[in-house]
Amino acid sequence: MSALQMNIEPLSSLDEILPVLTGCNLPVADISVSSPPQFFGFRVAGSVVAVVGLEQFQSVGLLRSLAVSPGHRGRGLARELVSFVESFALSQGVESLFLLTTTAEAFFVASGYGPASRQEAPQAIQATPQFSGLCPSSSAFLSKRLGRANPAAHAGSAPAAPAAEPRS
Ligand SMILES: CC(C)(COP(=O)(O)OP(=O)(O)OC[C@H]1O[C@@H](n2cnc3c(N)ncnc32)[C@H](O)[C@@H]1OP(=O)(O)O)[C@@H](O)C(=O)NCCC(=O)NCCS
Repeated sequence: MSALQMNIEPLSSLDEILPVLTGCNLPVADISVSSPPQFFGFRVAGSVVAVVGLEQFQSVGLLRSLAVSPGHRGRGLARELVSFVESFALSQGVESLFLLTTTAEAFFVASGYGPASRQEAPQAIQATPQFSGLCPSSSAFLSKRLGRANPAAHAGSAPAAPAAEPRS
């Protein structure tokens, strides 16, 4: 089944989300039951196979926990999830997204993200466990300005119109 035939849905059960993340070797130590990131994902036959998380701090956000189970890679699921979460974030007032990655820098660069300064990162982003230690210092730190046809800081296309609800 291609990504175009599948729906992205909000996810709230950590029992469904965490196994996908740990199965993709992504950190979960900072995901608390009391205030988890907002997660979205794809299901196949009822099981969650791909997820993405968003931590929002007013006008900035941390895109995190992008994971596609190995058997479902290469079908565009990650690209769809990133596009969706960007549009969702924009609809919630997020102007810039930040992320850390050790494994998918080229993927995000191809999606319009560019290198960001750790020193100049918003305080809220610097305060996240991912930024302050959970992700290794060798991680690439990237950002993307949302909602601009011609971002000043980074090359790349603007996300589609805001979509607060999953695609049907
Ligand atoms: C990275 C990951 C999310 C990609 O998922 P996916 O659904 O296979 O990706 P897509 O099918 O949407 O790929 C879209 C494009 O990105 C490319 N791509 C995929 N993974 C990539 C990576 N790690 N680095 C560079 N490019 C990548 C694909 O080849 C494809 O390119 P194309 O359009 O030219 O064919 C998946 O491999 C994964 O879960 N990895 C482990 C966890 C991880 O590293 N997460 C990211 C850190 S937050």
